Amino acid sequence: MNEIMNTKKPVTAATLLHASQSNKKTVWITAYDASSSEIAETAGADVLLVGDSLGMVCLGFDSTIPVTLEQMIHHTAAVVRGRKRAWVVCDMPFGTYQQSPQQAFASCVRVLQQSGCDAVKIEGGEPMASTICFLADRGIAVVAHIGLTPQSVKKFGSYGKRGTDAAGRTQLIRDAQAVSEAGAVSVVLENIPADMAAEITRSVDIPTVGIGAGGNCDAQVLVFNDLVGLSASNPPFAPAYADARQLMSDAIARWSADVKSGRFPS
Ligand code: KIV
Repeated sequence: MNEIMNTKKPVTAATLLHASQSNKKTVWITAYDASSSEIAETAGADVLLVGDSLGMVCLGFDSTIPVTLEQMIHHTAAVVRGRKRAWVVCDMPFGTYQQSPQQAFASCVRVLQQSGCDAVKIEGGEPMASTICFLADRGIAVVAHIGLTPQSVKKFGSYGKRGTDAAGRTQLIRDAQAVSEAGAVSVVLENIPADMAAEITRSVDIPTVGIGAGGNCDAQVLVFNDLVGLSASNPPFAPAYADARQLMSDAIARWSADVKSGRFPS
């Protein structure tokens, strides 16, 4: 159990800010159900992010775009039931917050009331700043997400690294500053050069959470299934720390053989 979780108190946005100001790294991981929530928190995760990666990891979609608000609420409520003290963040799915600050507020209210989570995450930098401000002014803890924003895959045409040319680097800095000034409590930096993530981490007051963004962020996040080796393939920046796929497959194959041979039940 890590230092932040080694206390009875629930993790809050203030806990995470305090950790980053004290140069203590925090650990975020995605979770999609009560079981992954309980396992991740017991193993030391401070934050459980119910990512809309749910769509690809659990629901069999080929992008995050088809994921609905109802699906996010359903899975986030399960993650909340599985946690004790970890901070639970629900990803707002595509189409539920981009239209207007009012649309975003109505969607976030549903998520917060029906799932019991602590915060919401929305993709987008400078163009989403007024929405983040609207939500933050109304008491909602918003995590921003900049760099590679998977909900925009149809616009960019790939999941490649962002911020690799001069214009992209300038925009990333503007995005980070805009979401921070708008009142986001934290910002996810996905698939950007490590030196950019380091510069952003130095220049904004809120904790940065890196995924494929080098080691100089305040926190790191990985997709649960990638981390434990359940995914069929991982992005280059996401190492598997175990081979859960093989372990599960071996268990099922051995049980199956035992059923067929009559060794199970014994
Ligand atoms: O949907 C997700 O899992 C995410 C993380 C990869 C940051 O947004």
